[in-house]
Amino acid sequence: MKVTRFTVLLALLVGAALIAACGGAATPEGPAISAEAQKYASLVGDAAAGKTKFDGTCVSCHGPGGVGIAGLGKDMTTSEFIKGLPDAEMILFLTKGRPASDSANTTGVDMPPRGGNPALTDQDLADVVAYIRTLAK
Ligand code: HEC
Repeated sequence: MKVTRFTVLLALLVGAALIAACGGAATPEGPAISAEAQKYASLVGDAAAGKTKFDGTCVSCHGPGGVGIAGLGKDMTTSEFIKGLPDAEMILFLTKGRPASDSANTTGVDMPPRGGNPALTDQDLADVVAYIRTLAK
C-alpha cells in the first residue's frame, strides 16, 4: 500500500515536472496566447523598422511617439490594454482593429484593421509592436 502511494506520488511529480518543462502555450513573460494568435508567435519584431512603419501609418491618428491625438487614436504610452497583451495577441488585434461598432471600443472612433494600411504585412505589424513596446511609460 505504501509503495503504491509512493509510486503514484512519484508519477504525479514527474508529470508535473514534464508539464512545467514544456511550458504549455504560455509565453515566458505573459499569459497563454489564444489559438488564433499562435500563428504570429514566431514573428520577431524590429523596433527601428517598426518606427518607420509607425510613422508612415499609425502616426496620423496616434501622434508622434504614440502619445495620442484627441478625437483620433488613443495614447499608447500609458495603455493598460497594450501592457497586458502579449506580442502575438497585439499583432492579432492589429489585423482586426476595433471598429466603433465593437462593444470594446472606448472612443466611438474606428481603429481600422492594420491601421487602415492593408499593405502592412504581418511582419510589418510585428515590427510596429516592437516599436510600441519602447513607448510605454
Ligand atoms: C484612422 C485613425 C487610426 C489609425 C491610422 C490607427 N489607429 Fe490605432 N486606434 C485608433 C482609435 C480611434 C483607437 C481607439 C479605439 C477605441 O475607441 O477603443 C485606436 C486604438 C488602438 C490600439 C488600442 C489602444 C488601447 O489602449 O485600447 C492600438 C494598440 C492601436 N490603435 C494601434 C495602432 C497601430 C499600431 C496603428 C498603425 C499600424 C494604428 N493603431 C493606426 C485610430 C487609429
